[in-house]
Amino acid sequence: MIPAAEPLLRFKNVSRAYASPEDRSGSLTVLAVQDVSLDLPRGAFAALIGPSGSGKTTLLNLASGLDRPTRGEILISGTRVSALPQRELCHFRRRHLGFVFQAYNLFPALTAVENVEFTSVIRGDPREAARERAVTALRTVGLEAKLHSYPSELSGGQQQRVAVARALATQPDIIFADEPTANLDSKTAIQLIGLFEELNRTLGATFLFSTHDQKLVERVRTPIRLVDGKLA
Ligand SMILES: Nc1ncnc2c1ncn2[C@@H]1O[C@H](COP(=O)(O)OP(=O)(O)OP(=O)(O)O)[C@@H](O)[C@H]1O
Ligand SMILES: [Mg+2]
Repeated sequence: MIPAAEPLLRFKNVSRAYASPEDRSGSLTVLAVQDVSLDLPRGAFAALIGPSGSGKTTLLNLASGLDRPTRGEILISGTRVSALPQRELCHFRRRHLGFVFQAYNLFPALTAVENVEFTSVIRGDPREAARERAVTALRTVGLEAKLHSYPSELSGGQQQRVAVARALATQPDIIFADEPTANLDSKTAIQLIGLFEELNRTLGATFLFSTHDQKLVERVRTPIRLVDGKLA
């Protein structure tokens, strides 16, 4: 049982160091994220904001289990994800986390609905339930007319919405998105932000994204500012 007060996402003194490409000794000299502690409650609408190189992508990758901290620990719904063995981490990610990648990462040989149900199918959900959730997710993002279209038959903004539907379809605890509006024209970007807000409001979906985009920054409820890998 998770106590009600348990934050959905907790960073405890998290650092991530990299070896500098110039330094051949292999010592970890680039501190991409430095001693970050933060708590994000369920239902948050939060964004990492900071200049290029400030550590936004690194922090998102740590939060979403794509990368591991060199120090500190990360908990999601009370589970210490930073300490999970790889297999269990994969399983946890499929069960609890959703991602919207900047480059969409859709499978070109699969239709929209097949892309959206993919994670549910590979984690072993019953096919019919997976299809039903995929169709619902595509309807939620306004793409019910494009269920059987291939990514190459969709505009950039539509592909982005398929990627959002895919993140939603597994009913994750939290959805991560790295610069989700970066590849979109400003009208499509505003629609996507509106969609995120609506999903947050109506489904209570928790969002953590990173952004440079002033249109998005203005609408975030919880801005998390990073400077040189540290919370500002
Ligand atoms: N694999 C790596 N090896 C070495 N240094 C890295 C690596 N990944 C990131 N860094 C460094 O860590 C710092 C933070 O990078 P990060 O990609 O997290 O920044 P960002 O805020 O996402 O920037 P942008 O807005 O340009 O996407 C930078 O100084 C970067 O050069
Ligand atoms: Mg980045």
